[in-house]
Amino acid sequence: MIAKDLGDREIVDKVFSVAKKAKEAMLEYGDSVIDATIGSLYDEEGKLVVLNTAMEVYRELPPEDITGYASNFTGTPEYKESVKISLFGRDYESFLSEHHCEVIATPGGSGAISTSIRNYLEYGDTILLPKWLWSPYILMAKDRKGSCEFYEMFDNKNEFDIADLKERVERLSKIQENVVLIINDPCQNPTGYRLTIEEWQRVREILVDCSKRANVIVIVDIAYIDFDDREFEEKREFLEIFKNLPERVLTIFTFSLSKSLTCYGLRVGAQIALTTSETVIKEFVSANSYTCRATWSNISRGGMAMFSKLISDTEKTEKLRVEREQYRELIAQRAEIFIREARECGLDILPYVSGFFLTIPTGEYTAKMEELLEKNHIYTVVLDEGIRIALCSVPKRKIEGLAFKIKELLECAKQK
Ligand SMILES: Cc1ncc(COP(=O)(O)O)c(C=O)c1O
Repeated sequence: MIAKDLGDREIVDKVFSVAKKAKEAMLEYGDSVIDATIGSLYDEEGKLVVLNTAMEVYRELPPEDITGYASNFTGTPEYKESVKISLFGRDYESFLSEHHCEVIATPGGSGAISTSIRNYLEYGDTILLPKWLWSPYILMAKDRKGSCEFYEMFDNKNEFDIADLKERVERLSKIQENVVLIINDPCQNPTGYRLTIEEWQRVREILVDCSKRANVIVIVDIAYIDFDDREFEEKREFLEIFKNLPERVLTIFTFSLSKSLTCYGLRVGAQIALTTSETVIKEFVSANSYTCRATWSNISRGGMAMFSKLISDTEKTEKLRVEREQYRELIAQRAEIFIREARECGLDILPYVSGFFLTIPTGEYTAKMEELLEKNHIYTVVLDEGIRIALCSVPKRKIEGLAFKIKELLECAKQK
């Protein structure tokens, strides 16, 4: 009965299915099981982290702020302003002078990314995605009957493969009117990579050059930006990359409260469009407002109110930053243990800087590794050519020794 043009709609969500296996194993084998699948933040006692500063504000909201419709289906004005402050700083107006910047509230980062793809990827066109990626991007592109092309991310020296990205963007710009690409940065899922400013500058040159032939829409997935360890000024250097671009380049940052406030279930996020063109921004607002109205109407008023209250009050913002910083530090400690041990035993990992996950490339041995890991009660998210370890949810005591164990299993997989 399903509309024929939709094609195959079966979802094989590996993350949820492995996570289920891990839970079952936990019931049978107890604490010896390592569940490195969960992409939410957990503390050292195995409890889901709830940021108290955010929850206090949420609990104090008047009931109608939680149950009522939002005043506008593209987000409340206060929320839109808070999103701009959160990303660009309190002086966002002067920072963005002579630019056009608009915010559309979406259900989580997922809503922001899917809406961006829906409105800019021509039906049947190819989208450029990272080889190591958060796989829902692929489903979202398929909804436009798009094909996916993957840029390498890392070259054989394990450095960001700018040449590969350049070649692919260039090729597409010669055959498509719109080139849509996604870069998940900082704290890339699943590698934890972050492009250096120099690498971003090279990316910028590529976008500028290709905009002579095509429209370039760069979706910068910043879902994990609040777990980036850079200072404000360094973050601004990153944001400078997207200023003063030609009119045919549109940047859409996709933002999410899921990780920033550990409020995954509230479903609050945003598209933040930045351009030098008035026509492009007007079109962005109307097309994306249309999608909101035609898809989910409006998002959680309570979620937006909570964020706006947190950001408009500098004391609360600081309290939130300090609270979140403890957890960012905790993830960094977990990463440090894993990376140190991996170095000690010669286990390769993809370049990690910060963030919830790291990845071990396992290439042709991936299927074998999956089997061996499960036999040893270690559950990870198995990618096409690697395994992802969720540093965000595994306590330090379980991270200790994990790299050694994985190295041993990888050697075993290679022998069979
Ligand atoms: C890279 C990346 N982008 C976006 C999202 C979207 O998250 P949400 O829709 O919960 O905001 C996720 C969630 O795991 C993610 O890992």
